[in-house]
Amino acid sequence: MNPTDTSSAEWDIAAVRDHFLFPAEGRVVTNNAASTQPPRELLELYRSLAPGYENVHRGQSDASRELTRLFEDAYDTIAQFLGAPSRRSVALYRNTTEAINAVLYSLLTEFRDGDNVVTTMLEHNSNYVPWSALCRDILPRFGRRVDCRLARFDPETGELDLEHLASLIDARTKLVCCTGASNFLGTRPPLETVRDLADASGYVQPNGEERSYLLVDGAQLVPGTFTDVQALGADYLAFSFHKLLAPFGVGVLYAREHLLESSLPFLYGGDMIAEGRVFPGGVEYGPLPWKYAAGTPNILGAIVSAQALRLLHDLALTPTQAHYFGTGRPIERETTRRAMDRISAWNRHLTARALERLEAIPGLTIYGPGDAARRTSLVAFTVAGHDSGDLAHALNDAGVEARAGCHCATLAHHALGLTPAGSCRLSFYLYNTPEEVDVAVDALAAIVAGRRRVRGGRDVPVVGPAGR
Ligand SMILES: Cc1ncc(COP(=O)(O)O)c(C=O)c1O
Repeated sequence: MNPTDTSSAEWDIAAVRDHFLFPAEGRVVTNNAASTQPPRELLELYRSLAPGYENVHRGQSDASRELTRLFEDAYDTIAQFLGAPSRRSVALYRNTTEAINAVLYSLLTEFRDGDNVVTTMLEHNSNYVPWSALCRDILPRFGRRVDCRLARFDPETGELDLEHLASLIDARTKLVCCTGASNFLGTRPPLETVRDLADASGYVQPNGEERSYLLVDGAQLVPGTFTDVQALGADYLAFSFHKLLAPFGVGVLYAREHLLESSLPFLYGGDMIAEGRVFPGGVEYGPLPWKYAAGTPNILGAIVSAQALRLLHDLALTPTQAHYFGTGRPIERETTRRAMDRISAWNRHLTARALERLEAIPGLTIYGPGDAARRTSLVAFTVAGHDSGDLAHALNDAGVEARAGCHCATLAHHALGLTPAGSCRLSFYLYNTPEEVDVAVDALAAIVAGRRRVRGGRDVPVVGPAGR
């Protein structure tokens, strides 16, 4: 085994799974690229916050002040986790999609006629549709023509075509938008190279900076990879907590502080203004990060999400003992690196097993890089003669939760000529076991061989055309 892999002996999977409710239901949860499962501690945390339930920044009660403290601490934990200089670089939204739209609206007034935005064919629709809308629907109404350019990927390997990307970036490229990991092909573009290309564009930003800004869609990257925004040199990075153990509802936008300082907010209203500085003739916005927190935020969601990061460290390093969860204890960068590297290694172990075993199924085509080390923890495939949706339904009958469709990676499905634009996907996270990978692959093999598998691994006679 590769020395960087986490073997079963080094990863106490039983202790990790003890934190979750789904194993007791017998669920084989392999749709983690869509959303991960919430550990019981986080659900309990919601309940434990209820006696002190109050709004933040809007009350003098002990309850309001205590919840405000926890809410503000959440920003610090998130900033620390990303290696951001401080909470001033963090804005919270509902999800990755909203965070990316926030960048769009913050930069909206800055685009000049003749500018362009470069993104890639690997993107989730959340990192393509906003830029398409900006260039084709929004800016033309202001009389500005801005081009939306798309870098290709290699259909064989699923790797981003860096030469093509380089050819699209020029002195009129205001922004380069790139995924940290594709949610369909699993590809992890070399973000340092993308950063270098954006840096060298020669685009002159309104503040005099000479380079294109880089926005990284971290939705599939951050949950399983050590991410340091300063080392990465990203100007913007977005991700969703519902793919990182927390319940639904909170997404993060990291941005360089000076960009948040100078740009216009996405949303306007209460709590984003400087105290008392609202006049009939104008308004002064508040300090960072609250300038980007208009209206009552998802207070409990933010607190629980930040604690999800703390729990993530515990699960990766000391799954039988809470060390960071439930505290405000600072977490060293090296500790975060170690925790995330262990999660990456376990995810890679599961993905390598899935790749190896899936390859043996007749008629099955796997999309994206062949090497687990070059991809994130998911495998999407089609099987000749089988509809992907039917496969996912049949897998569900066998107790395996796969996902079929285009996974919102519609451009990449079109680029591969997949008609209908769909594939079936298995995606793994830190609580999955190698045995679950085997259950999923064995069930798929049985279905493809024309057998109908039910929960528990038993085959029953086929009824109907799709075996359902
Ligand atoms: C790569 C990628 N980007 C963006 C998103 C959108 O995330 P959300 O639905 O949380 O906004 C997803 C969700 O699947 C994704 O995988």
